[in-house]
Formats: sequence, structure tokens, C-alpha cells
Amino acid sequence: MMPLGEELYSGKAKSVFRSENPDQYILHFRDDTSAFDGKKVEKLSDKGKVNNLFNAFIMELLAEEGIPTHFIKRLSDTDSLVKKLTMIPVECVVRNYAAGSLCKRYGIEEGTAISPPTFEFFLKNDELHDPMINDSHIVSFGWATQEQIQQMQTLTFRVNDVLKKRFDEAGMLLVDYKLEFGMADNGELTLGDEFSPDGCRIWDKTTRNKMDKDRFRQDLGNVIETYKEVAQRLGISL
Ligand code: TMP
Ligand code: ASP
Repeated sequence: MMPLGEELYSGKAKSVFRSENPDQYILHFRDDTSAFDGKKVEKLSDKGKVNNLFNAFIMELLAEEGIPTHFIKRLSDTDSLVKKLTMIPVECVVRNYAAGSLCKRYGIEEGTAISPPTFEFFLKNDELHDPMINDSHIVSFGWATQEQIQQMQTLTFRVNDVLKKRFDEAGMLLVDYKLEFGMADNGELTLGDEFSPDGCRIWDKTTRNKMDKDRFRQDLGNVIETYKEVAQRLGISL
């Protein structure tokens, strides 16, 4: 593994380090697994590696489809080189089937198909439990501009078109997912953070078995074994 530079930031599951290039950071995927805004935390062996390889595959797939991402290349099993971004502190969630907080909020039965898919913004703030916010809050509190809001929505739905199809072909439903964006130095709104089974919901198409972090949240067991199965179905070699 290459030596890591100064640690700039440590999140719940990943750490960001300086690299030799001031415009590029190293994303280090740890085995730490967190849910409920950090209330439930455990180390799951191999998770850092699985999520790093998973994320590299998805980011490359999205880049091929013309979506600007921060991903540059994988450096090791647990580390990837990414473009430095100035992150926008909101989370973009698209839902194809009802699950999680949407069911609680609106009384919709889990598994109900959502057509057209919904789009929601949440404020990235653990202490406030990531409250749902709208465009007006985002603009008035200066978290992003109207133009950035529009671009985040457009890109998040484009990701849905690409990934929904890909998961479907591999026998899985992409139920929902969360994306985060930032601004690159060239002024381009760019997909940041990660795409892995930690930040989305994936069900087996036939049995509707949960194949994502709900296995951890709901103590269903075989968390990483199931992540590996998702990876294998998508053709990711681990
Ligand atoms: P939710 O049902 O809890 O609102 O989450 C919707 C999807 O977004 C689910 O796949 C989990 C993901 N998500 C995160 O990964 N982190 C977050 O902070 C939030 C709000 C959602
Ligand atoms: N990722 C968030 C956390 O670690 C929310 C969740 O996945 O439940 O707390």
C-alpha cells in the first residue's frame, strides 16, 4: 500500500488523505460500518475492500456514460485516488420502490413501485439526523444555487437510468440510493463520495431479499457476504 499523506477528514466509514498532487485526494475505505447517524457502529471484515472495488466499478461505469465523477483510479484494495471537490452539504436521494424513511413519513407500504421515481434532498448533518430539505432552504441558506440544484437533480436521475438497468440485468432491483456532489476546480458539478451497498438499497428481483446495508441496520446477518454476492452478480472481481 502506498504511504498516505496527512489525514484531512475522517468520516464514519472513509477517511480522506492528502496525496502528492494538491488537486487530488486519497479516499481510504475503512471496515467501519455505521447506521442511524453513527449510533450503531461495527467493524465488518473486508468491507473497506469490497466497497472500494464496488465504488471503482460503478464510478467507471458512470464516467463511461458521460457523468462527471471525482474518481481517478484505484490505488490499492482499500484506497482510491479522487479529484479534490468542494462538497455541497446536501444528499440527493432517488427512490424506485418504497422503503426506509419514505414508508415511515408517508405511510406507503414497503416495496410499492414508485413511478415516476421520487427525488429528495436531505441536509448532510448527523447531529440534526439529516433532515429533509427543499430547494428553497438550499438556496436561502446558501448550501447551493438554483443552477446547482437543477444539475444535481438531472445527474442523479441520469445515474438512475444507467444503474437501474444494470442492476436489473443482474437480477436485482435498485430500490433507492443517495448521491453527493461537489464542485471541481474547473467549475464542473461532479459526483463525489461513493456508490456502494452502504448508500443504496438493493433487493433480489425474485425473492426481494435485502442485499444492502439494511442487513446491518436490521441485524439480518451475512452483511459482507451479501455485498460480495451483489458485486459478483455485477461482474466485479473481488
Ligand atoms: P432513507 O430511507 O433512510 O431516507 O434512505 C434512502 C436511501 O439513501 C437509502 O438507500 C440510504 C441512503 N442514505 C444514506 O446512505 N445516507 C444518508 O444519510 C441518507 C439520508 C440516506
Ligand atoms: N450512513 C448513515 C449513518 O451511518 C445513515 C444510515 O445509513 O443509516 O449513520
